[in-house]
This record gives sequence, C-alpha cells and structure tokens, in this order.
Amino acid sequence: MKKYKILKFNEMGDRDGKLVVLEALKNIPFEIKRIFYIYGTKSDVIRGEHANKNSEFVLINVVGKCKIMVDDGLTREIIDLDKPNKGIYLNKMVWKDMYDFSKDSVLLVISSMNYDSEEYIRDYELFKKLVNS
Ligand code: TYD
Repeated sequence: MKKYKILKFNEMGDRDGKLVVLEALKNIPFEIKRIFYIYGTKSDVIRGEHANKNSEFVLINVVGKCKIMVDDGLTREIIDLDKPNKGIYLNKMVWKDMYDFSKDSVLLVISSMNYDSEEYIRDYELFKKLVNS
C-alpha cells in the first residue's frame, strides 16, 4: 500500500469567497503538533530531499504552486500542488522533494510531530535500505 495519498478538501463558502477547514483526525489524519509554511523559495531550488522516520505530514500549497516528488520505496510519483483545496498526506518514511515553486508560493505543512532534526534521513541510499528492510 502506498504511504501517501492525495487529499481533496471540501471548499466551503459562497460566491463571496471560499473557505477550507482542516481538523485533526477529521480531514487531517493525525493529531496536529506543528504547522510551518515555506515561502519566498527561488524557482530553481529543490527543498526537502529527505525522509522522516517518525513524522507524518500534510502539505498544501495555499497560494501559488509547486511540485512534489514523493517516493515511498515502492512507488515514485510527481504531484502538482496547485490548488488551496488540494493536499498530500505523507506517512512516515516517505522521501520528498519540493521544487518548481512559483514566485508567490506559500506551502503549508502540517505535522504530527514536533521538530526533531534526529529523525531526518538525508541519504537516499540509506532511505532505500531502511524502507525496504
Ligand atoms: P528546512 O527547510 O527543513 O531546511 P534544511 O533541509 O536545511 O534543514 O529547515 C530550515 C531551518 O529551519 C533548519 O535550520 C531547521 C529549521 N527548522 C526548525 O527549527 N523547525 C522546523 O519545524 C523546521 C521544518 C525547520
């Protein structure tokens, strides 16, 4: 089974404007511990380039767009994050690269864990070894 999943959030609101609601254990499949957002990323930059041993994530590009390459050890896929009501859920141990950021991109990241630099795997070969063991 894949360790990632595209999420489509319900757009609420009316012709005056739109609204998306994110709730722990409802449309976000974990208890939320941390939120951060990435912006001002240069278009030629690749971010990510790691997997996390313990954290689950939901990523939503709420303004502008970017691409994410996900690799769970079995499947590798490139997904456009280009709508404020589209997200991707990443379970533990998914390799991710984010790139092709538009100038205005604001990438919202919701996580199940507090930040811990020790849980990062930054060596792809090591990731492949661990994920397939
Ligand atoms: P990040 O963009 O993950 O870059 P890097 O791949 O270089 O670690 O993080 C940038 C900096 O912000 C880095 O010094 C770690 C820090 N950071 C936190 O302190 N807490 C967090 O939740 C995150 C995501 C990053």
